[in-house]
Amino acid sequence: MSTTHPALARLPALIAPGQPPTALAPMQDVTDLPFMTAIGECGAPDWFFTEYFRVTETSRLEKHILRSITENPTGRPVFAQLIGENLPALRRAATELLKHPVAAIDLNMGCPAPKVYKKNVGGGLLRDLPKVDAILGTLRDAVTTRPFTVKTRIGFEDTRSFESLLDLINKHQVDLLSLHGRTVKELYRSEVHYDYIARAAERVACPVLANGNITSAEKAAAVVTETRCAGVMIGRSAIRNPWIFRQVRERFAGQPVTRVYLREVRAYVDRLWTVTDTPGIPERARVGKMKKYLNFVGQAMDAGGAFLAAMRPTATAAELFAVCDQHMLAEPDALFADEPFAGVIARPNCETPHPGPDADEACSLDTITA
Ligand SMILES: Cc1cc2nc3c(=O)[nH]c(=O)nc-3n(C[C@H](O)[C@H](O)[C@H](O)COP(=O)(O)O)c2cc1C
Repeated sequence: MSTTHPALARLPALIAPGQPPTALAPMQDVTDLPFMTAIGECGAPDWFFTEYFRVTETSRLEKHILRSITENPTGRPVFAQLIGENLPALRRAATELLKHPVAAIDLNMGCPAPKVYKKNVGGGLLRDLPKVDAILGTLRDAVTTRPFTVKTRIGFEDTRSFESLLDLINKHQVDLLSLHGRTVKELYRSEVHYDYIARAAERVACPVLANGNITSAEKAAAVVTETRCAGVMIGRSAIRNPWIFRQVRERFAGQPVTRVYLREVRAYVDRLWTVTDTPGIPERARVGKMKKYLNFVGQAMDAGGAFLAAMRPTATAAELFAVCDQHMLAEPDALFADEPFAGVIARPNCETPHPGPDADEACSLDTITA
């Protein structure tokens, strides 16, 4: 599978030139330095995106997010994502970030958390296209030495402004559009409207990364074929299956796709444990962070959710590892499922169409019911 989008030349070089690019989706509390390191060891994507830097009149660049740029050991470029609506502050943050080894500046126009969109940032911006026009103009003007990219959804409540939004992407010569094929109101679990991603790929001048429920190498190939987009951006499925980018590259190259065995999943758990070891972190907090990752891994462990049911109540490292050993090492040479099992939900509180109160933080792993 090859891609010939001429504007890809303006973006960082790919691992397999000529193939559709892959990107790890920005995820708050996930795509930090430790997680990027773990993914890099399993098979890095072409491009990483940071979790978002919050930009307000008084904000400073968050140090822990900056570390994922300045200490990145993966050898792959990192796009720095901003969220905000204050024009001078966005300009200042972008200029500041350009002093660091960022591959590009990315604007978040998709976050669906009510706490976020009610401040007219993230997905909230999709209700105010004149504001989008002003923000894109400001950032395009500030970001001249590196690509300026946008990540968004197909609308706020509906898609009536979709074409106008795409026209703004063209007007401001955005270098890459990552498009999550849902509206803001559809959160994370509705069907993904790949037909809208296809419409975007046809209408905008820049390459489009298709995003939303790309769960496997097979699905990535199907979405690229269906939408004719330039490449794919993968979020939650990379937490579940950190080998997915390598597998996608194999699939795009027409090679056999590497299968994953449960013993390798168990080794991934160890890797996550190692990377979550930050100075002074209490065991309970570290176990809590592990459980958030394992909520996604559990989606491909068994169809009945038995691993998740056993894992969620654990409180100590010993308990957690005992559950992992029991479920992953009883048959170490059994295959890990390529796709998540239908109905096994990682984040019950914030992925439903009628989310509970925790959905206010819908861009954060903290809302996962553990
Ligand atoms: C825990 C979590 C945190 C997220 N944080 C961000 C973020 O900081 N910026 C952003 O643009 N999107 C964020 N998203 C959305 C993802 O980037 C992505 O668009 C979405 O999960 C759909 O892709 P997927 O189906 O491959 O996961 C987040 C998603 C999740 C699950």
